[in-house]
Amino acid sequence: MLNRPHTVLNMAQSLNGYISGPSGKRVVISSPEDMERVMKLRDSCDGILVGKNTVRNDNPALLSRENGNSARIVIDPEVNLGTEFKIMDDSRKTIVLNSNKEGRYGINTEFIHCGKPFDLMLAMEQLKTRGISRLLVEGGEYTATKMLENDLIDEYYLFVGDIILPEGGQKTPSAQKEMRNVILDVSMMKGGILLKIDPHNFRGNIDEK
Ligand SMILES: NC(=O)c1ccc[n+]([C@@H]2O[C@H](COP(=O)([O-])OP(=O)(O)OC[C@H]3O[C@@H](n4cnc5c(N)ncnc54)[C@H](OP(=O)(O)O)[C@@H]3O)[C@@H](O)[C@H]2O)c1
Repeated sequence: MLNRPHTVLNMAQSLNGYISGPSGKRVVISSPEDMERVMKLRDSCDGILVGKNTVRNDNPALLSRENGNSARIVIDPEVNLGTEFKIMDDSRKTIVLNSNKEGRYGINTEFIHCGKPFDLMLAMEQLKTRGISRLLVEGGEYTATKMLENDLIDEYYLFVGDIILPEGGQKTPSAQKEMRNVILDVSMMKGGILLKIDPHNFRGNIDEK
């Protein structure tokens, strides 16, 4: 049995490979049909994780529609995000994975110390011991890249939206080495294409840096 959650990565990119507008500006890339798929994915998971910059730039609610117990999870090593974001509103449990402090911001916030420097594997183990058996990672670029490089992703879905964005935004996770034959499945959707990608191909990128 895995000592970490079964982890699904879901991202949406433009046709030219951007996941955000210039300087990280939030852009809706998913079509309504794709959002419906993402909501079902959220419902099937015990927690939804993003990196600190995604909370700061996008202020997502990270809510599942049908699973009232799903945790909202952010990686914020220095705990300097602040409390003015939707995920800190106490309506559901929020977990802050960090390297800095233990503490509480609200009755529904749990701080988990994950080593200094931040140890991603330890963070995943800590989530598993807290009952997060199935985890959804929703970005951004840095967080997704680290998860892939450490071979912590079990399923990877990439929606390619029918949109071209200006240069200067965050990009889909890339790699240090060339990778081919990574597409496991393709489906046409309204407003774009859904790709299922082999996440294990990213393993080995760390060694070759
Ligand atoms: N289209 C999509 O699917 C999608 C989804 C989500 C987000 N986005 C976009 O992505 C942008 C943000 O991407 P981003 O790459 O700038 O940021 P990010 O991945 O959201 O957050 C990165 C930050 O989180 C912390 N962190 C995450 N993983 C870590 C690890 N393994 N070890 C240590 N620290 C870790 C670090 O904080 P510290 O700097 O404090 O160390 C890091 O700088 C947003 O603008 C958003 O619009 C797009």
